[in-house]
Amino acid sequence: MLNILPKPKSLVYGYGTVGDDYVVTLKPELPEEGYRLILNEKGIEIQYSTEKGKFYAAETLDQIASQCETLPCVTVEDEPKYPYRGFMIDCARHFFTVEELKKQINVMAELKLNKFHWHLTDDQGWRLEIKKYPLLTEKGSVRSSTRGDKKEIKGFYTAAEVKEIVNFCADRFIEVIPEIDMPGHFTAAIASYPDLSCHGKPMKVSERFGIHKDIACAGKDETINFCKDVLSEVAELFPSEYVHLGGDEAPKLNWYECNDCRKRMEKHSLADEKALQGWFTNEMVAHLASLGKKAVVWNDGVSENLDKTAVMQYWKQSSSTNKELLVEAGRGRQMIFSPFFYFYFDYPHGMTPLKKTFNYKVPSEIEKNVKGLEGTLWTEYVPDVNKLELMAYPRLFALADKAWAYDDDYTDFLVRLDVFAEFITDKFPIAVTVKPNPSFLKGKKDTLLFFLNILDRDTIKVARELRLDKRIAAKRRRKG
Ligand code: ACM
Ligand code: ZN
Repeated sequence: MLNILPKPKSLVYGYGTVGDDYVVTLKPELPEEGYRLILNEKGIEIQYSTEKGKFYAAETLDQIASQCETLPCVTVEDEPKYPYRGFMIDCARHFFTVEELKKQINVMAELKLNKFHWHLTDDQGWRLEIKKYPLLTEKGSVRSSTRGDKKEIKGFYTAAEVKEIVNFCADRFIEVIPEIDMPGHFTAAIASYPDLSCHGKPMKVSERFGIHKDIACAGKDETINFCKDVLSEVAELFPSEYVHLGGDEAPKLNWYECNDCRKRMEKHSLADEKALQGWFTNEMVAHLASLGKKAVVWNDGVSENLDKTAVMQYWKQSSSTNKELLVEAGRGRQMIFSPFFYFYFDYPHGMTPLKKTFNYKVPSEIEKNVKGLEGTLWTEYVPDVNKLELMAYPRLFALADKAWAYDDDYTDFLVRLDVFAEFITDKFPIAVTVKPNPSFLKGKKDTLLFFLNILDRDTIKVARELRLDKRIAAKRRRKG
């Protein structure tokens, strides 16, 4: 019995022994990423319509060959369910070397994942060299301490290293989608160039986690130009169709008080600060369009006035989620799904067990708007690559299976996972020790410890201040 992961659309066993021929045949009628792999008495034949399909056929053949001493006769017909199959690694909170990233990218390729979402900037570090603004990496890539530990965390990727990752991914048919988070999660940029904020005061690269109230000023032309300049360099470095603009967790406390922001709202008749964020993001979407790129935005950064071409990455689940999804689907918006209770792999295995990740169902009403699925690995509490692998695997396997396969049989997945785990044991000796479905009690304990760890003094203090932001936003909504 062959166990292929992700599961092919169809796999039919034949009889006899596989012959010695090896042919690849162009079949333009096959889907872009699809393939047909035929092992029969003549030999091996790969049918494909693009190089991507040929690559995936070879991955499947590798998995078959690794499981048998002699190849069995079999025909595999395959194509992915979703065109977008992603994995995000946060390299801002902690820094990972090019070699460490390449190791994960190799696994992505084996799992037929095709988008590497590279989270490069955040409050706690700016990790991408930008020639026009050297302080971003001179100052913004260095954090003196993290939650009082007085240990320096630093690092950034040079243009040459970006190219190395981009090429490494391209060889594996993986698109690299860089994320430059704005207007929120912007403290490292503000620490480098204080005038980017509304108040212009000097700031440090953040030494705590959670939401930060100092965000990019949407009123100052200088800030808008800075963001556009950064995106121009990003567009040159990354050949991807998409650039991720973040847009998540952007409290508006500074914007309420800022003359420049108020003037911008008046000038463009913007009803509230959410609409101002929409205006700001639209400026970036238009700039990206002029560079031949499209934008992705996290769902809490999506407003009514946001350009329809911006893809929404859905992470933040709430009681109004389904309504929000329906509204955006009604606007024709494309979506990527990363619901945080299911696809956030930095959450403890007890809180988000493998089974929970696997059994997530995209709401059927909006299925046609969904481009695909993405697993994310935030690294606030992931200081090194061993912890990264411990958290990512095997949940990324479940994500990959869901993003490619049409079947969603968990029992069948577990059988296939076992075989695949053996296949990668030497690469991830730590990750294979993970208990992916801890007991109920262990789950509760993991969850409690996770939240207790997050709630330090600084975070609680800021959370209190942010309650005011929520109250003002609610009042604005009622008035509107
Ligand atoms: C997010 O988790 N703030 C996108
Ligand atoms: Zn402002």
